[in-house]
Amino acid sequence: MLDVQDLCVQFAGLKAVQDLSFSVKPGQIITLMGPNGAGKSTAFNAIGGMIRPTSGKVHFDGRDITGERPAKVAALGIRRTFQNNGILREMTVIENVLTGLELSTQSTFWGAVTGMPGSSRAERDAVRRARSALEQMGVPEIAERIAGDLSFGQQRLVEIARATVARARMIMLDEPAVGLSPGERVHLGSVLRELAANGMAVLMVEHVQDLVMAVSDEILVLNYGKKIAHCAPSEIRHNRDVLEVYLGRA
Ligand SMILES: Nc1ncnc2c1ncn2[C@@H]1O[C@H](COP(=O)(O)OP(=O)(O)OP(=O)(O)O)[C@@H](O)[C@H]1O
Ligand SMILES: [Mg+2]
Repeated sequence: MLDVQDLCVQFAGLKAVQDLSFSVKPGQIITLMGPNGAGKSTAFNAIGGMIRPTSGKVHFDGRDITGERPAKVAALGIRRTFQNNGILREMTVIENVLTGLELSTQSTFWGAVTGMPGSSRAERDAVRRARSALEQMGVPEIAERIAGDLSFGQQRLVEIARATVARARMIMLDEPAVGLSPGERVHLGSVLRELAANGMAVLMVEHVQDLVMAVSDEILVLNYGKKIAHCAPSEIRHNRDVLEVYLGRA
């Protein structure tokens, strides 16, 4: 589904990503790891169109999307969550999820949410989809809550619901486990596994070991922009290059 070939991103003299190649198939969860500054976010941004790669290719569904703008990439079915500015805190959960469907006006939201007379079939359909996305996250009961009042874990699920509601086929998650309790991490893991079981391709940057080990099909480890390991979770602890990077010695 996603195919990254020899991706390079250079900032002035710094090679932030060097010759990175990997692919993500439908139903797979691929995790990017690596120390601070390894190039994980830069790789994400180059795939999502926020940064234009210096060289290399990104294909999605066989189509060359290298250097396409973020809106175009999103429209093709690659959605992402952001670490910080994800949630509209003053709005309800269902309104947050509806923004993933790009309904444009506030009044449309209110009409759709309240089911007031005049709300169109398209709006009712949008609300149905938003509710079903929340159900898939295992949290249908929070639909009417104010998003800013929720726990970090619930907010993360709202972000993922918003990312998936518009028939995304791949989601990119930037450190989704940050700030989550152990129980919330377990729930997040099962949500990601279920999305994958339904054919979603998942690409995430994550450090939190229990989540990474529990859900990843493959782990890529970057260091100074280069891929130094690409293996199954069970192999990662035995990889000498990875140990060297994380512990300073093999
Ligand atoms: N827009 C930019 N201009 C110049 N240098 C940048 C830019 N963005 C990132 N860098 C540099 O590129 C390198 C890779 O950064 P990147 O943010 O991709 O790392 P990361 O693996 O996501 O790290 P972290 O775990 O800290 O988030 C770093 O040396 C960083 O300082
Ligand atoms: Mg980063």
